Amino acid sequence: MNAVTREMNAASDGDFGNADNAQRLKRLRALIAGGPRTLMMYMTVIAILYAGWSRRGDVYLSPEEGLGYALGITGGLMMLSLLLYPLRKHKKWARILGGVRNWFRMHMVLGVIGPVCILYHCNFQLGSMNGNVALFSMLLVASSGLIGRYFYGRVHYGLHGSKADLENLGSDAAALRGCMKYIFEESPSMQKRLDGLDAKTRNLPDGFVASFIHVIYISMLTRWARLATARDLRLAINAIHAKNRMDRQTLGSLDEVSRFYLKTYLEAIKRVAGFSFYERLFSLWHLLHMPLFMMLLVTGTIHVLAVHMY
Ligand code: HEM
Repeated sequence: MNAVTREMNAASDGDFGNADNAQRLKRLRALIAGGPRTLMMYMTVIAILYAGWSRRGDVYLSPEEGLGYALGITGGLMMLSLLLYPLRKHKKWARILGGVRNWFRMHMVLGVIGPVCILYHCNFQLGSMNGNVALFSMLLVASSGLIGRYFYGRVHYGLHGSKADLENLGSDAAALRGCMKYIFEESPSMQKRLDGLDAKTRNLPDGFVASFIHVIYISMLTRWARLATARDLRLAINAIHAKNRMDRQTLGSLDEVSRFYLKTYLEAIKRVAGFSFYERLFSLWHLLHMPLFMMLLVTGTIHVLAVHMY
């Protein structure tokens, strides 16, 4: 393995030129994590919902008895259990329940499966007034949860990661640029393109609408930069290969590591550009989510009492 690849690979193992940066690599990996698995999960849920909705006229399930009734109890209990996450997060004594990350993961899973059970419980149809109000409150809270999940992901390193801040994101981007110096030496045009993009992301506007437009604009620019730099990267790696005569494995590893740097770098600067905007949205979302949740608690309780009393 030649010096270039050794140094680049060392960085990908968590050594960005100084030994205490393993933490940084963990953060960076989390920045680009997710993707296919999450997509698969959502596609499965959509397919299950579609299957139930398209058979809503058939009377296989009744909310009052048998499996339909059991699904109502199960969904309700799932939504009560997902409250263990805020409990674990906010109350010190709840530490005995285990790690916050696992409870957060459970919260999201139960927040999706619970409402699916309730939709099957009511057979995707409307019924009594109290049931309808409880149903819409549930749909509102679950949808709000999905939106919150998106905002959360924008201001954290991954869904189970630590809270991000501008300083860390900025220094991560700078570290990644440092790691790409070998690529830049072979491709000044790529460096120039990324410099231009970097300057634009730092020009953060004031005001909500201007920030929103800026976030969309930078998101489009980074997407474009990814496409536009793909060729530059390939040419730069070929040039390094020509100079250093690498074997297949080393070349493959250099290719993989450089792609990782470029992808993570573009993600990091996109996050820098949108950080303040999403941070504000996330705290506004928190303010809205709690009253919606309280509404679900009240309407769900009234529904359960009403169906068992009358
Ligand atoms: C009916 C279902 C749901 C209920 C009753 C519910 C309830 C709650 C409650 C009470 C909180 C705590 C708010 C706070 O600490 O200020 C919360 C936070 C949160 N929920 Fe849900 N939720 C539901 C579904 C979902 C779903 C489906 C998702 C995403 C897939 C989700 C994602 C989140 C996120 C990202 C947070 C903020 C976490 C944080 O700031 O630490 N929720 N939810």
